[in-house]
Amino acid sequence: DVVDVSALTSQGMFTYDPGFVSTAACESKITYIDGGQGILLHGGYPIDELAEHSDYLETCWLLWNGELPTKEEKERFIELVTHHTMVHDQLSAFFKGFRRDAHPMAIMCGVVGALSAFYHDSLDITSDKHRQKSAIRLIAKMPTIAAMAYKFSIGQPFIYPRNDLGYAENFLHMMFSTPCEDYKVSPVLADAMDKIFILHADHEQNASTSTVRLSGSTGANPFACISAGIAALWGPSHGGANEAVLNMLEEIGDVSRIDEFVAKAKDKNDPFRLMGFGHRVYKNFDPRAKVMKSAADDVLAELGVNDPLLAVAKRLEEIALEDPYFKEKKLYPNVDFYSGIILKAMGIPTSMFTVIFALGRTPGWIAHWNEMIAANSKIGRPRQLYTGPAQRKFVPLDQR
Ligand code: ACO
Repeated sequence: DVVDVSALTSQGMFTYDPGFVSTAACESKITYIDGGQGILLHGGYPIDELAEHSDYLETCWLLWNGELPTKEEKERFIELVTHHTMVHDQLSAFFKGFRRDAHPMAIMCGVVGALSAFYHDSLDITSDKHRQKSAIRLIAKMPTIAAMAYKFSIGQPFIYPRNDLGYAENFLHMMFSTPCEDYKVSPVLADAMDKIFILHADHEQNASTSTVRLSGSTGANPFACISAGIAALWGPSHGGANEAVLNMLEEIGDVSRIDEFVAKAKDKNDPFRLMGFGHRVYKNFDPRAKVMKSAADDVLAELGVNDPLLAVAKRLEEIALEDPYFKEKKLYPNVDFYSGIILKAMGIPTSMFTVIFALGRTPGWIAHWNEMIAANSKIGRPRQLYTGPAQRKFVPLDQR
C-alpha cells in the first residue's frame, strides 16, 4: 500500500534526481568546471595558472570579487586579513571544554559556529559591510582556530599569529612553533601549503558548498553556515578523503599487499573503495591533481623523505593509470590523494588533513554564500518522492 503517484499531480511537477547528478540548484559566476575535459576556472582563470602565478589570498579576492585585485587592492586586503588573525581571548577557553582526543574537525564545527557568539557586530546579513567583515574574520581566524585545535590535542600552549608572515607561513608557524623555539618555515613548504589552499579554494556546488548555500538560504548567520559546511566536508566521500587516503595506505602497509587491496576495490560485492581515486565531476584527470602531484614531488625532494607509505602511494598511482578497471571507470587519482601525501611528508598529523581542506575551502564557501544572499535567493527546499504507506487510520495501542 504505497501512495498513489497520481496524487503527486496535485502537488505540481518536480524532477527526481537523487544525488543531484544533473540538477543545477543555482546560477553562479564564480567557478566553471568541465569534468569531461578536466577544466577548472575561477573567474575565467585556469586553476593551474592561479596555482603557478597567484597566491591564496589573491585567489580568495578573485572568488569574492570576480576580478584579480590591483596592486593596492591586494596590499589592503592582505593587511586587513593579517590584522584579523587573533581570536577573542575568551574563545581560547572553549577548547578546554573538549576532550584532548577530540577530532579537530569536531572542534572546528563547534568553535567556528561559536564565532557568532563573539562577533555580534557583523551578523546583519542584509548589510554588505557586515557580510564583508564576517568574510574577513572567517578567512583570517580559521588558521588560528585550526592551529589551536592541533596544539590543544597535543597538550601544547597556543601559539599566537605573527603579522610579519604570509598566510600559509603563519599557519605553519602556529602549528609547529613552541614558546621555547620558533619553527623556521621552509619557503618550499610554505609554497606547497599555499598551493594546497589555492587548489581547494572553490569547486562550485560540491556537498559542503551546497550545504553552506542551503543553510544560508534560511538567513542563518555566516559563522553558522560555515560551521555547517565544515560538518558536511568531514565525510570520507568528500573532504575526509585525504585522511582516509593515509589510513588506507597505512592499512595496506607494504607494496606487496597492493594487489590484494586493488582486487577488493574491483570486487562488486566488496564495499571497499580505493580512497583518493575517482571524482563525481572529473571523468578525466583532475586538473588540481596535476598541480598537486608536482607540489608533492617538490616537497618530497626538499625534505628527502623516504617513507614506505609513499612507495605504496606511488605504486597505487601507477596501477590506477594502467589498470583497465580504473581506466574504464575513469577513476584517476584525485586532489586528496596527493594532498594527503604532501601533508604527511610535512609532519602534519592525519587528523588535521580535513581541517586543512576546510581552511582552503573557506573562501569558496563564503563566495557562494555571499553570491546567494546578494541575489536575494529563495530559501532552498528540495522536494522528495514519497515511497511510504498511503493514508491510513490511526491504530490504538491495544489493537497493535
Ligand atoms: N575505488 C573503486 N571503485 C570505485 C571508486 C574507488 N575509489 N570510485 C568509484 N568506483 C566505482 C564504483 O564502484 C562504480 O562502479 P559500478 O559502475 O560498477 O557501479 C563506479 O566506479 C562509479 O562510482 P560512483 O560511486 O557511481 O561515482 P560517484 O560519482 O557517485 O562517486 C566518489 C564519486 C564519491 C568520489 C567515488 O569515486 C569515491 O568514493 N571515491 C573515493 C573517495 C574519494 O577519494 N573522495 C574524494 C572526492 S574528491 C573531493 O572531495 C575533493
